[in-house]
Amino acid sequence: MKKGFSMSTNTPGSGEPRSHDEPIVAVVPTTKPLAKQISRRKVFALAGAGTLVLVVGGGVWRATDQGVFSTGQGPAYTPWSDWRSATHGSLNLVRAAILAANAHNTQPWVFHVTTTRIDVFADLSRRIGLADPFLSEMYIGLGCALENIALAAPANGYTPQIRLLPDVTDATFVARIDLLPTVTQASALYQAIPHRHTNRYPYDTNHPIAQATLDASLDQQNGYFLQGLESQVQTAGALGLVAVRGKRDNVQRMSVGQLWQRMHLWATTQGLSLHPLNQITEMADREVVLGSSPHFSDALRALVTDPAWQGVFSFRAGYTTHEAFPSPRRALSDVVTS
Ligand SMILES: Cc1cc2nc3c(=O)[nH]c(=O)nc-3n(C[C@H](O)[C@H](O)[C@H](O)COP(=O)(O)O)c2cc1C
Repeated sequence: MKKGFSMSTNTPGSGEPRSHDEPIVAVVPTTKPLAKQISRRKVFALAGAGTLVLVVGGGVWRATDQGVFSTGQGPAYTPWSDWRSATHGSLNLVRAAILAANAHNTQPWVFHVTTTRIDVFADLSRRIGLADPFLSEMYIGLGCALENIALAAPANGYTPQIRLLPDVTDATFVARIDLLPTVTQASALYQAIPHRHTNRYPYDTNHPIAQATLDASLDQQNGYFLQGLESQVQTAGALGLVAVRGKRDNVQRMSVGQLWQRMHLWATTQGLSLHPLNQITEMADREVVLGSSPHFSDALRALVTDPAWQGVFSFRAGYTTHEAFPSPRRALSDVVTS
């Protein structure tokens, strides 16, 4: 058993070298010694703090009025059911975008929408301070939203032409998406958009992830790499890590988000649950800002066997015994300008 995640520099199947901006994913079974390197207690210690920042920073968005504290009811949850409005058009792509995964459910996006174009902006007012000091998670979440737009485009009769960071002078202008007419085609990943939810429940330790599922994911991730380090996953859960070559590069961060969104949608179609556990990278970034001893930074580096790669996003996978609830969403009118 190797210590750490093995990062392949080739795209699986083709043997071709990866492009520089392309992130990779590796997974290991959770019962192996590697899993013990990530302490559960430390991982979960931060979750409450993140939620507090969100609520305090959210001020005018009254969580109780939106039904946030009820389970799946109220205006904050209707975006999950009315995401595919009968009124076709570019706005339907944004309806899909706002259902994307995003760190701490901050939903840090604004969309400028016309009939033929969507410009996507980062909303810096929704940054979460020390939990994401370098905005890494913010850009990953924006990448998740972009992936939902890309999947919703053909389903609504558009070919999307996406340009990331189209204005070099404005890092908040994250993407311009021009929409060209095409034949309507809805993919399985698109259909899975309203069914994808982060599942934080315990996973079934009697239901291991089959090697065939890991292998199938190679085809589903569009060349991205999901690697089983063991010939067979022997427990229900697995730990995963997404790594890039340049963790401060916003294009690479958004690629991670696009990858994660696809992966989570694909897992949803397979009945497989996923759950980001990203506190280790949050803590590593926090250590840099505070100048404290690099406990988490060192642990993260130790997980990645190749120094050319930097871990930016960690997660667990498994089969759950409970369905996850949808999480609340801001109204479309709060995030769309025209
Ligand atoms: C970059 C990123 C980091 C995340 N980190 C965590 C985490 O550490 N712990 C956690 O429980 N969820 C984490 N999440 C999941 C988000 O909290 C979740 O996507 C958000 O609350 C919206 O819920 P949904 O995914 O069910 O739509 C993360 C998501 C992203 C995109």
